[in-house]
Amino acid sequence: MALIKSIAAYEIIDSRGLPTVEAQLVLDSGVSVVTSVPGAQAHYPNEPADIRDEDGNRFFGKGVLHSVSYINDLIAPKLKGVNPAKLKEIDDWLVKADGTKNKSRLGTNTLLTISQLIAKAGAADVQMPLFKYLNGLYKSIYKSEIPIDKVPTPIFNMINGGKHANTPMDFQEFQIIPSSSFTFGTAYQKAIELYVELKKVLEYRNATTAVGEEGGFSPNLTTNVDALEILNEAISQVKMKAGLDMFLGIDFASSFFSKKGLYTIKDKPHPLKSDEYINFVKFLLDNYSILYIEDPFDAEDWPSWKKLSTSLSSTIYIVGDELIRMNKDRLTYAIREGTCTSFLLKPNQIGTISEVFDIVNLARTNSISYVVAGRSSETNDDFVSDLSVAIQAEFVKFGAPVRGERVAKYNRLWRIERDELKIQ
Ligand code: PGA
Ligand code: ZN
Repeated sequence: MALIKSIAAYEIIDSRGLPTVEAQLVLDSGVSVVTSVPGAQAHYPNEPADIRDEDGNRFFGKGVLHSVSYINDLIAPKLKGVNPAKLKEIDDWLVKADGTKNKSRLGTNTLLTISQLIAKAGAADVQMPLFKYLNGLYKSIYKSEIPIDKVPTPIFNMINGGKHANTPMDFQEFQIIPSSSFTFGTAYQKAIELYVELKKVLEYRNATTAVGEEGGFSPNLTTNVDALEILNEAISQVKMKAGLDMFLGIDFASSFFSKKGLYTIKDKPHPLKSDEYINFVKFLLDNYSILYIEDPFDAEDWPSWKKLSTSLSSTIYIVGDELIRMNKDRLTYAIREGTCTSFLLKPNQIGTISEVFDIVNLARTNSISYVVAGRSSETNDDFVSDLSVAIQAEFVKFGAPVRGERVAKYNRLWRIERDELKIQ
């Protein structure tokens, strides 16, 4: 059993051009691991988020030297000589040291960097793949086994709108979801073929083929329905069947276009009241092969969430991202009210891996499914891929099937399926 010899953190730049934290941990056996974390901005009061330097002379105030210094000067000396197998104890200590509800003292960037490093070091020390190690840790904490039999089904972001792209479309992500009957490798291949075809369809229609924050196209289409139509066209061009081989998904991220109970979208000439807007969402579900809808309603519009989920068939995933935002109280309420079928797991929206496990345990004991998601500000780290397999997430959502920070995560899943699970 090796012990921690040193931890060193430093700034790197993420996929959006913002500084973030990377760190290296060295064990006294000589083994070393590196990890980095995506960016987390708070959109709501008391939402856990990164700490930023707020020094206007560097990176418009977005530097993370405070986080780096907390790791190098405060945390690293305390962890010297500690056994990396003690992830839960270390995470509990970090959360206590922060002492705030929203992690505003140390920041989720500081906490998650350490938590991921410790987990990676623990796995490396016993020469175990990270996903198996995390799965074993979960079992030892909750005395409950999660049998690993697959890699989660991927959701690929093909067209970006909303606040992730400079396009007229209000919805943030138009996604494709290959049938779960495909292996991950086949699903990935089909997604890439579709992505290439989609570019041709956009070019043919004289639409722009620039890309948005998560690598999906951000064409100059007019309405949200246009984006679904274009996706359907590309699906039929590659001889796939929508609703059979390939499904559609939407992350509405509706807080972007909802205000005071009204929903303003390009598809309609006037702002829609909740009931009119629910009918529009139902129209989309009736007319397109949609399997997955994320944040169709504003995060505080609980009645609309409930109205839709009680009126839909159980085959549609109604997913809370901003609705839940990794908050246990909000998840508990959503479970009690039957508001959504699933929610997004974003580790840097909470802080430590042990807290992620805690949310996973709450979800599993209440039979609500979860989707492991990347962020729009990403790094090339693939920790979340192993995490998603360890906790057998229903889906993963890491962005488009292109761009380094996106494919780093999908490629890791492909390798786990092929080399570790031996599924071809
Ligand atoms: P974010 O978005 O990383 O910008 O919060 C991702 C999502 O909405 O799923
Ligand atoms: Zn979302």
